[in-house]
Amino acid sequence: MIALGCDHGGFDLKNAIKAYLEENDIPYRDFGCMTPESIDYPPIAAAVAHSITGGECEKGILCCGTGIGMSIAANKVKGIRASVCTNEFCTEMTRRHNNANILCLGGRVIDEAMAVKLAQIFLTTPFDGGRHLNRVNLIKKIEDGEL
Ligand code: RB5
Repeated sequence: MIALGCDHGGFDLKNAIKAYLEENDIPYRDFGCMTPESIDYPPIAAAVAHSITGGECEKGILCCGTGIGMSIAANKVKGIRASVCTNEFCTEMTRRHNNANILCLGGRVIDEAMAVKLAQIFLTTPFDGGRHLNRVNLIKKIEDGEL
């Protein structure tokens, strides 16, 4: 299950990604917002993040104006590795090296076609593991106050 969320700045990108998921029979849960009216992004980032750490969803995609606010908010939740990406290379690498579990996109930064392309890369690229697993585990130590 893929968790989706957006604020008004990412509303159109989220709808484009939803259409892609529906066309490909990929199950998702939409945590809002459901209209393009102005809305605060942190509660939506939190709902998507908690759906992942709680086990309901495997990965999430959050869209706001830049992707940045969503990523800052989502990364406050222990166990979340949310990355803002604007191109194919960073999206591939944040899966392969960082095992990112949330992709953050900016509706004022990229267009809908790019958002769908990045979503596809994010959802299909596996984590490399190996030395990168050790590094991800070191990030966890920061969360646990050990670093
Ligand atoms: C909303 O205007 C905008 O601040 C928000 O979508 C996001 O870009 C924040 O990082």
